[in-house]
Amino acid sequence: MPKETQLVEAIKNGSVIDHIPANVGIKVLKLFKMHKTNQRVTIGLNLPSSALGAKDLIKIENVFINTDQANQLALYAPNATVNQIENYEVVKKLTLSLPEKINSIFKCPNSNCITHNEPVDSSFTIIAKKEDVFLKCKYCEKVFSREIVTERV
Ligand code: CTP
Ligand code: ZN
Repeated sequence: MPKETQLVEAIKNGSVIDHIPANVGIKVLKLFKMHKTNQRVTIGLNLPSSALGAKDLIKIENVFINTDQANQLALYAPNATVNQIENYEVVKKLTLSLPEKINSIFKCPNSNCITHNEPVDSSFTIIAKKEDVFLKCKYCEKVFSREIVTERV
């Protein structure tokens, strides 16, 4: 897309998370604490997208999101693209795949789980079965659907 038609200003160096479903951008920003940085963060919400109709987008300057970090987003925005920008050029484009584990992000839905009473970080193993995704808590070993874990944030 030519610079003059860009909906959010181009960045010189950093990461652009593109093709986030509309309404998921704010959630992703907060959940992954992307706003808790001294770097400039610009967000675009409900931007027109040919593929999605409307999309959200997050740009973080001078921060480079690696593959493992990018994959943590896959539960929320499986079709997002993470672009690495260097000197105004896209030098890397990561597509997301589900990680094996997701730590510290979600709370365990089991109210009796030890993670609610002990100062431990949550940890789930991701289990993908065809179209469905489940998370298994490392501590109570209960298995929850993706929806149950993510809707509680
Ligand atoms: N971008 C940016 N700053 C730059 C270069 C690119 O913010 N200096 C952003 C673009 O606005 C876009 C994303 O990074 O949101 C990816 O850029 P590019 O690959 O050029 O765009 P597309 O071809 O539209 O990407 P895709 O094929 O992933 O849709
Ligand atoms: Zn648990």
